[in-house]
Amino acid sequence: MSVANEDLISAATDARRNAYNRYSNYSVGAAIVDDRGHLHVGCNVENAAYPLGSCAEASAIGAMVQQGGKRIVKIAVVGGAGDIGPCTPCGGCRQRINEFADKETVILAIDDSGDWQEYSIDDLLPASFHLP
Ligand code: THU
Repeated sequence: MSVANEDLISAATDARRNAYNRYSNYSVGAAIVDDRGHLHVGCNVENAAYPLGSCAEASAIGAMVQQGGKRIVKIAVVGGAGDIGPCTPCGGCRQRINEFADKETVILAIDDSGDWQEYSIDDLLPASFHLP
């Protein structure tokens, strides 16, 4: 089952509205289509102990795994505001996505005006770390 980019972006945008971002005031939403065509969403959840905050992608991946999804077919990440461009996944989230991504996995980075850029995991994390 394929999900249109617009529908996935809309799910990530909805999730973004629930971001708990009282320290950075930066909202991020993520939405994943898994290998069964199921949808999973997440938002960033910050914490007074700053390093404990979690990214939107981490929340969405956790939801996918908990629901039995095995692979990420497509992931949309919505963030950015004003003159800040689309929210591309941070370094840690690139590695998190890599764990469940294939060569064909589509990664969409969207700004809050709805413009998006499309990447593969090889674009974002070349020569990535894998265990044998
Ligand atoms: N953030 C994400 O949720 N995903 C990313 O890929 C980049 C950053 C969050 C973490 C923090 O809550 C806020 O954005 C500012 O860094």
